[in-house]
Amino acid sequence: MTETVHVPLGERAYDIHIGTGIIASAGEWISPLLSRPRVAIVTDAMVGDLHLDALTRALDAESIDSVSLRLPAGEATKGWPQFTRTVEWLLENRIERRDVVIALGGGVVGDLVGFAAAVLRRGVRFVQIPTSLLAQVDSSVGGKTGINAPQGKNLIGAFHQPSMVLADIGALETLTPRDFLAGYGEVVKYGLLGDSAFFEWLEANGPALAAGDVDARTYAVRRSCEMKAEIVVRDETEQGDRALLNLGHTFCHALEAATGYSSDLLHGEGVAIGCALAFELSARLGLCSQEDPSRVRAHLTSMGMKTDLSDIDANLPGADVLLDLMGQDKKVVDGQLRFILARGIGRAFVTSDAPRDVVHKLLAEVLPTPG
Ligand code: GLY
Repeated sequence: MTETVHVPLGERAYDIHIGTGIIASAGEWISPLLSRPRVAIVTDAMVGDLHLDALTRALDAESIDSVSLRLPAGEATKGWPQFTRTVEWLLENRIERRDVVIALGGGVVGDLVGFAAAVLRRGVRFVQIPTSLLAQVDSSVGGKTGINAPQGKNLIGAFHQPSMVLADIGALETLTPRDFLAGYGEVVKYGLLGDSAFFEWLEANGPALAAGDVDARTYAVRRSCEMKAEIVVRDETEQGDRALLNLGHTFCHALEAATGYSSDLLHGEGVAIGCALAFELSARLGLCSQEDPSRVRAHLTSMGMKTDLSDIDANLPGADVLLDLMGQDKKVVDGQLRFILARGIGRAFVTSDAPRDVVHKLLAEVLPTPG
């Protein structure tokens, strides 16, 4: 069964279709969007091996011709060289203004291809086919596209909404447990930021989700997409409320920078640790009860996820350096750090009012002692 979440953004509105077997029927979904039966697919080497044949067959079945490009897998792809290669490949293949480009893969491919589509001939349409949990619940939805700069992650990009998102729950079966749980960090984030009943549901159903229960996975992806869509519709270009989606990210970005954006810490793992820290900070500021951060940590731990800074298998810098790294976050406005704090589970809000000394003390206390 397929579930659909509509993202009502006026002339940029689109649907997110969620279910099993969606890649195998992608031609039927995509066909109504096309002005001629021809698409360009961009994927990466790893996802290409797993899913490109199935996608091509599905397009063939609807008499849609396709050309495909496989980029190298990994975060290093998300920079100018592979971006330039992608844009020039699309031009060489005569992708026109009214054509559709398909991004098949995780967050790296989705972000890069979305940005390529945003600038190609001043904007062509694109379809996201996210194959990682993180991409299905976060990066494929909402139109943030871009690449990394030497100065930081995602610093070059554009808002460009996809024309459709096809989230095939079956694709999650090919993820490693570590990658699945990293994506799960973003799922938990939704419960924590705005839906305590969803968090409670995750406490009960998280183990089934991790074990592969398709109905549970479909519900979790749907609920996450519904919540993201609702926030994006309120604030498409992050002038205010969209920053709620960054719960845990101020800490996470500092930790990712401190670990060199390496596999020592995956983005979703940093988000989970960051959420635990954001709740701890909220409790210390008297915004929520001490039971809330304990409950957050208990759930993450029970899922076998990284929860504490000591779970990161790398040497971390001291609290001063981490605070400086937080200061380089994109969310800094007029030099003021913006935090997403919470008045309880499901009750997050955006603030610039987190005293630096309290954040410093928290970091100093939770950092593992060297040796
Ligand atoms: N990943 C956060 C956002 O899309 O705003």
